[in-house]
Amino acid sequence: MNILVIGSGGREHALCWAIAKSPLCDRLICAPGNGGIADVAECMALDISDHEAVIALCRANAIDFVVVGPEVPLVAGIADDLTAAGFKTFGPSAAAAQLEGSKGFTKDLCAKHNIPTAAYARFSEAEAAKAYARTQSAPLVIKADGLAAGKGVVIAQSLEEACETIDEIFAGAFGNAGAEVVVEAFLVGEEASFFALVDGKTVLPLATAQDHKQVGDGDTGPNTGGMGAYSPAPVMSDALCQRTLDEIISPTVAAMAAAGTPFRGVLFAGLMITDTGPQLIEYNVRFGDPECQVLMVRLKDDLVTLLLAAADGQLDHVSARWIDDVALTVVMAAEGYPGSYEKNTEIGNLAEAGAGDTVEIFHAGTARSPSGACLATGGRVLNVTGIGANVADAQAKAYGAVDKVDWPGGFCRRDIGWRAVAREAS
Ligand code: AMP
Ligand code: GLY
Repeated sequence: MNILVIGSGGREHALCWAIAKSPLCDRLICAPGNGGIADVAECMALDISDHEAVIALCRANAIDFVVVGPEVPLVAGIADDLTAAGFKTFGPSAAAAQLEGSKGFTKDLCAKHNIPTAAYARFSEAEAAKAYARTQSAPLVIKADGLAAGKGVVIAQSLEEACETIDEIFAGAFGNAGAEVVVEAFLVGEEASFFALVDGKTVLPLATAQDHKQVGDGDTGPNTGGMGAYSPAPVMSDALCQRTLDEIISPTVAAMAAAGTPFRGVLFAGLMITDTGPQLIEYNVRFGDPECQVLMVRLKDDLVTLLLAAADGQLDHVSARWIDDVALTVVMAAEGYPGSYEKNTEIGNLAEAGAGDTVEIFHAGTARSPSGACLATGGRVLNVTGIGANVADAQAKAYGAVDKVDWPGGFCRRDIGWRAVAREAS
């Protein structure tokens, strides 16, 4: 079949890498794609916010199946529009994508169905939000309701800071995403991510991962889209995975179906593992980036079969197997990220750095120059992924490859996986 992947990041490179290996895939197109994706798929320029243009591309190329990578088009209803035009699509409807598109929506769903999550209240104006905050104790978590590229969350260490943040969000710090604000209690514990495919009714658990959001070693400095990740997450024992399914994922899937807005796609639960068990921090309605990269190198089964089963309501007919090895990915970013950074610096020695079975390099913000050189065009640029018998081994493989990449304009954290490595050593 002819498959279209929508997106241009490291997540989409990993998806294309896995889809290109499928016996079901005849032709693979990625729009708009990037410099690395061009090695495994045909990249085509496309404005993915223009749904008519996406449909026209599908028609022109006889696309049989569309896989949507990022959340913005899903929340904007790309899956609804593609489905209405007759194109089978992996990814939730706009109504189901509210699980990521509105934090207040998800909090209300949790409250209604007794799904464990931090205590909260939601507000559409500042005075009421601040009055509520003053009745709580710090630290308090203040969130813009809508999509804010992972930046709409502030952990306020004092009630003063909480009130200032509330004012800033209502003043437009996060644009439209901040038309509503959620104020919630601060949860203490270790964070982990849990991924499951969902076909509207059946849940197929995939795997777990942990990421590092902050830019600096030791988890310091400003938050980013993610500086590295590994899978599986050692903290997620079988018992905790089962509790996550029973107490969080399954009731959510049942509630969405009962509301007439069944969820189809991948559900990515951000969890806090507290003393009393897993609590939901947030849902995402797509694969994580860079978590997808570590999941894809561990997947033994055919990705296309799994994604089709999710789209077709047939997840009860498939299973997903994983290699026991650990995968760990290190994000190489342009110097200056997440602030301003230089573009079009050249990256060399990628073929040698990525050689061998225990390393895979996925591209995020890259493009090919006319002469074929690899240029850095974004903030997060490469995902250097190592595979090993344990986290320390996977980490050594990843950094061994990082050290071969010739890119004076780039940097990375040197401690991805530190918590898991310490756990292994103890
Ligand atoms: P979110 O975008 O909702 O995942 O929030 C981003 C990050 O903020 C999370 O990964 C957590 O590190 C932190 N966070 C969000 N909500 C809470 C909470 N209620 N308690 C503690 N940390 C939180
Ligand atoms: N790495 C976090 C995310 O994809 O949202």
